[in-house]
Amino acid sequence: MGYVTSTLDPVSTDAARVLPPLQIGPITVDTPVVLAPMAGVTNRAFRTLCREAGASQGFDPGLYVAEMVTSRALVERNVESLRIVTFGDDETPRSAQVYGVDPATVGAAVAIIAGEDRADHVDLNFGCPVPKVTRRGGGSALPWKRQLFTDIVRAAVEAAEPHGVPVTVKMRKGIDDDHLTYLEAGRIAESLGVAAVALHARTAADYYSGTADWTAIARLKEAVRTVPVLGNGDIWSAEDALRMVRETGADGVVVGRGCQGRPWLFADLAAAFHGVTTRVRPDLREVADTVYRHGELMIDYYDGDEGKGMRDLRKHMAWYLKGYAAGGDARRALAMVSTLAELRERLDVLDLDLPYPGEDAEGPRGRAGSPKQPHLPYGWLDSRDLDAEFEAKLREAELSVSGG
Ligand SMILES: Cc1cc2nc3c(=O)[nH]c(=O)nc-3n(C[C@H](O)[C@H](O)[C@H](O)COP(=O)(O)O)c2cc1C
Repeated sequence: MGYVTSTLDPVSTDAARVLPPLQIGPITVDTPVVLAPMAGVTNRAFRTLCREAGASQGFDPGLYVAEMVTSRALVERNVESLRIVTFGDDETPRSAQVYGVDPATVGAAVAIIAGEDRADHVDLNFGCPVPKVTRRGGGSALPWKRQLFTDIVRAAVEAAEPHGVPVTVKMRKGIDDDHLTYLEAGRIAESLGVAAVALHARTAADYYSGTADWTAIARLKEAVRTVPVLGNGDIWSAEDALRMVRETGADGVVVGRGCQGRPWLFADLAAAFHGVTTRVRPDLREVADTVYRHGELMIDYYDGDEGKGMRDLRKHMAWYLKGYAAGGDARRALAMVSTLAELRERLDVLDLDLPYPGEDAEGPRGRAGSPKQPHLPYGWLDSRDLDAEFEAKLREAELSVSGG
């Protein structure tokens, strides 16, 4: 869909690309911008909106990663997990993210994705800080166990390689400031043949608090020399993305919460990386049109199940309306919508001529909060090696449900 745009006071007048294309193994991504995998958010419906926005200025839209799928659920061919690894007809490259703690299960899951031609790229999740994941030694807790991390990355790369599918790693800085793992994990992953590494520049203990430590991205860029290093954390605007690249030397950016309720951010990002200062500034009518289209895409994603589609859409409402004077009643009604007809009615009563509210619609959104003591398996930090007891339990520690 087209969007109203305005042009910034020219930052630079010469339209020149900021970075070369991002090379992820055999995949060339002309605009070095990645939609971060977000469980419960980056399903096919939302990715479609983001991709359309990214392409709306005439540039390559970038790379859009699906929600994480757990390796065990995929191997068990759980229906909802298989749904996560579905893509739009014209979605290319198709990018999936796998989470797991057992090398054999991760290898088997990647073999399914790559061998059955379900995606073109597989990212591995070593960044998730949520207790249900770290308690089992997964996500951001895992790189602390050096050998286990090595075995998982190796299993994934070996399963994907015969099919020409590149594997990438997404991680945090470590567990906390006293247990940093990212430089070592980055080098290990590079030596095992991953196609890129991405760093969310926070520790598990930081959770989503404070601000991301972009200096860590610069350090990772110095440590990992042969594959692209992608920076992630607290990009809320195209200008933030350009600043991250300038300050860290990153080869590309990964954008998560900043696009929640603002898929058009990808139009700004694509433009910015091609040296163009045009930015999308939607009025409320365009926001409403986007929400409605999101609703239609959600229903399609759930195979025509209107109830499921609308329930999944509800969480996006507050993000979409951030900064617009939409009124409490209208917001509440939209957050309880259950049919597409209801969605239409409730959008139509908004004052659709409201213009873009400026910075009230921008800035931080989504998960935040204070630092948290990470939940870890008993004795996890005592050693960098896995104890025999936990090793035997690895398969059980695999989550059987995706998302979260
Ligand atoms: C709702 C939500 C779900 C997330 N799910 C995942 C996930 O499935 N896999 C993953 O690697 N990271 C996940 N993340 C982390 C993001 O990919 C990203 O690293 C993080 O939000 C920092 O980037 P940002 O500051 O641009 O949001 C999630 C974050 C949020 C807010």
